[in-house]
Amino acid sequence: MTDKLIDRLPAPERAGVVIPWFTPADRPSPDRLQETSGLVEALGCELGFVRPDHVREVNSSFLLSGGLVDRMAADLDANECTIAVIDGALTPVQQRNLEKRLGRKVIDRTGLILEIFGLRARTKEGRLQVELARILYERSRLVRTWTHLERQRGGSGFLSGPGESQLEADRRMLDDRIVRLRRDLDEVKRTRAVQRAGRRRTGTPVIALVGYTNSGKSTLFNRLTHSDVFARDMPFATLDPTIRKLDLPSLGEAALIDTVGFISDLPTHLIDSFQATLEESLQADLLVHVRDRASASDMEQADDVMIVLERLEKESGLKLPPMIEAWNKIDALPEARALALRNLAATGSEPPAVAVSALTGEGMDALLALIETSLLRGRQEFGIVLGPEAGRARAWLHRNGDVTGDEMAEDGSARLRVRLSAERLGQFRAEFPDIEATLVV
Ligand code: GTP
Repeated sequence: MTDKLIDRLPAPERAGVVIPWFTPADRPSPDRLQETSGLVEALGCELGFVRPDHVREVNSSFLLSGGLVDRMAADLDANECTIAVIDGALTPVQQRNLEKRLGRKVIDRTGLILEIFGLRARTKEGRLQVELARILYERSRLVRTWTHLERQRGGSGFLSGPGESQLEADRRMLDDRIVRLRRDLDEVKRTRAVQRAGRRRTGTPVIALVGYTNSGKSTLFNRLTHSDVFARDMPFATLDPTIRKLDLPSLGEAALIDTVGFISDLPTHLIDSFQATLEESLQADLLVHVRDRASASDMEQADDVMIVLERLEKESGLKLPPMIEAWNKIDALPEARALALRNLAATGSEPPAVAVSALTGEGMDALLALIETSLLRGRQEFGIVLGPEAGRARAWLHRNGDVTGDEMAEDGSARLRVRLSAERLGQFRAEFPDIEATLVV
C-alpha cells in the first residue's frame, strides 16, 4: 500500500521533474513547466530541475526509454534530488520499476496532486474528501498490481498464488474505510442541503466562482466580499468551498462561493471525492468563470474547466447554471492587449464577460453589475395556486425556486409567489403539467 509521502519526508526535499511528452501536440508549453514547478513547490519541495522529455516509444516497464531513464538518474544525482517526479501518468509497475532503478521515491502527477490536496485541506469535509481520493487511488493501484502479478505467475483464479491473502486483507481494509468515509461525507452533504434550502427559503441568490487553479478566484473572492481568504501564488490554496455574503447594488444580499481550483488531468479520484463540493457550484444561480487572461495557457485552461463542469453536469444530472466570465489579471497584460480585451468584453462576448483585476480592483463595479443583470435576466416572478394535494409541487418549488410569498386561502389551497428562471419554469411545467404558473407583472 502506498504510504503517505509527506509523513515520511523531513523537509525540505529536493525534487527532479521530468514531464514526458509523446506527440508535438502535447509538448509542454513554458506555462506548463511553470505549473509543474508550482505543484512541486506547493508540496514544500525545492526544485532540483524540471525538464520536458520526448518519449518516442513508450517503454511498458518504465514509461521512459532506457536512455531517458539513465539521463534522469544522472540528473537526479547531479542535483542531489531526493524525489523523482514524473509529471504524467505512471502505472503502479512503472512506478515501482523506476523507484528501483532510480533509488528514490517516485511520484506521478496524480500522486503529486493528491499530496498537495492533503496538505491544503482545512475543513473536516476537505480532509474527508482528500482521504477518500487517496484511498480510491491506492485501491485502484492495489488491484492493478495484483492483476499484473497474477498474469506474471500465469495464475488464473483470483485466489491462487502467494501474497494474495495480504492483498485481499489490504483491499478489504481500504473498502471498509471507503464505506466509512462515504458515510461521513453523506452526512456533510445533508448538512449542506439543509443550508442550501435555508438560502433558497430566504431567496438569497447564490453565485459560485469557478476557474483553473491560480486564476485568482480567492483574490477576487476577498476583494468582492472584503474578506481574507488564504490567497497565495500556489496551486490549490483553496480546497474547501468558502461561502461569504456579497452585497449587490440593488438586489441586496447574495451568497458568494469560492471553490476548488481546476487543473488539467485532474485525477478522476479527486473529481469523484470532491463531487459534493463541486456540485455545490452546479446548484448556484450563476457561475462566474474566473480566467487568468495573462496566462499563455488561458484558452486551454478555460477548456479544461468546461470539461470538468460538463462531466459533473452529466454525472450529477444537474443542469449547469448560467455562466459569465471574469477576465482576471488584466493589470499584468501589455496595455494594448488589455485595451483590446476591455473593448471585447464591453462590446459583448459570449459568455458575457468583464475585464477585471482582482489585484488592483479594476472592473469590480462592472462585475457586480453584470452579476446582477445576469441574475435578473434569468428570473421572473410567477403566481402559482396549489391545491392541498400538491405537496410534491410545493416542495419542488421551495427547492428549486425562490418562494417570496406563501399564503393559505380559506379553501385550503396555497397561493405562492415564486421567482423562477426560464430553465426552472420549463422543468416545473414538464414535471407538473396540470399546474398553472402565471407571470406576475
Ligand atoms: P486556487 O486556490 O489554486 O484555486 O487559486 P485561486 O484561483 O484562488 O488563485 P489566488 O487568488 O490564490 O491567486 C493566485 C495568484 O494570482 C496569487 O499570487 C495572486 O496574488 C495572483 N493574482 C490574483 N489576481 C490577480 C490579478 O488580478 N492580477 C495579478 N497580477 N495577479 C493576480
